[in-house]
Amino acid sequence: MGFINQDIKPLDTKINNSGNLEIGGCDLSEIAKKYKTPLYVIDKATVETMAHDYKKAFSALENVKMVYASKALMTSAVAKIFHDCGFGFDVVSLGEMYTLKNAGIDLSHATFNGNNKSPEELEFALKNNIARVSVDNFYELELLDREAKKQGKIQKIFLRINPRIECHTHEYIQTGQLDSKFGFDFSKVSETVKLILENYKNLELTGLHSHVGSQIFETSIFNDEIEVLIKEIRNIKDEFNIQLTEINIGGGLGVKYTKEDVPPSVYDIADIIIKALDKNCKLYNVEKPTLIIEPGRSLISTAGVTLYTIGSIKDIENIRKYISVDGGMADNPRPSMYQAKYSAEIVNKKETVNMEKVTVAGKFCESGDVLIKDIELNSPKSGDILCVYNTGSYCYSMSSNYNSSLRPAMVLLDKGEAKIIVKRQTLEQLVQNDVLL
Ligand SMILES: Cc1ncc(COP(=O)(O)O)c(C=O)c1O
Repeated sequence: MGFINQDIKPLDTKINNSGNLEIGGCDLSEIAKKYKTPLYVIDKATVETMAHDYKKAFSALENVKMVYASKALMTSAVAKIFHDCGFGFDVVSLGEMYTLKNAGIDLSHATFNGNNKSPEELEFALKNNIARVSVDNFYELELLDREAKKQGKIQKIFLRINPRIECHTHEYIQTGQLDSKFGFDFSKVSETVKLILENYKNLELTGLHSHVGSQIFETSIFNDEIEVLIKEIRNIKDEFNIQLTEINIGGGLGVKYTKEDVPPSVYDIADIIIKALDKNCKLYNVEKPTLIIEPGRSLISTAGVTLYTIGSIKDIENIRKYISVDGGMADNPRPSMYQAKYSAEIVNKKETVNMEKVTVAGKFCESGDVLIKDIELNSPKSGDILCVYNTGSYCYSMSSNYNSSLRPAMVLLDKGEAKIIVKRQTLEQLVQNDVLL
């Protein structure tokens, strides 16, 4: 057992006296019966422990801000948990800003990121006093300055820089390499700062931002990223005589989806980051900026599981046994999108009957709708409940209504009780925006 992101399962996951899998004192078989499947389940104690570990790991730094990347999983109840843990928010859309407001959280706790923010989104963000906008490109600088002028404001901004650092993760979740849609190439930083200082009088540049990618296991990446940012702060100081006071290094820490995954802990990366900050600030003679870190996956992933009911089973002799569940790529598109791997267990098996190698298929009309290829499960039968681990991040937030399926409900496990935090979508809601001519 390691720290939360180094474990596949939520804290306190075990087989209970009834022979069922339970998390945080809640019997998953009973929960599946009561709330139906597919069902997203989030364990509050696991979320809070990881949030606490992040704060503790970076506590040696005097000026540090923890920000939750909402894109991993955004619901009003989840936002409230992170707010109560003292986290700010990284938001990337009108919807995420609106959800924060719905949870009673002020946007003065949020940074607005993204590579193509719309004029409406910028207007909403500024009207609601967003703390920072991380500006991604020249087009947006122009839009944002115009909006700030219209509202009579000076908007604090970061410049999102592409640090040209390649991390070894799936190409769809790499963001810091040269060929990326995100951020200003650092060869353009000088030109951009000049433009801001001379032309955009309603913008105040406070810091630099970058994010190299997601599901990162290589700790050295953070060292390289910090060096790039601190060096740029030095260059900006030399050329324009302005002192930037903040660096936002994004998120990216990986989690353990399968036993083959060995991610570093938050304490391992904090150690690298703190040392890199010290070393580079001395090396480049830069005053230590406030560090902002905005993890998503590692804060919420392990806390979440998805429960499914097994339906049809197809055994192709000597080739493959498919067991199909009542969800799939609509509630978790990651396996079909970028071959993401998951671990799973049968919830309701008292003892090991017979471990069988099977493939867990979804119910959607795509051959690629396979949740887990080749997994050993304990004698899976139709009607059994399957628990897929580590689905807290990028599952609900990436879900769709494919095949006109209904988005699943979500429950929060809190002190031995399961509480609904997202209701199951209804058929009426599915067609409510249809216009019949
Ligand atoms: C700008 C930015 N910050 C933070 C994150 C969160 O990354 P992760 O969930 O890997 O921690 C992302 C993810 O794509 C991002 O683009």
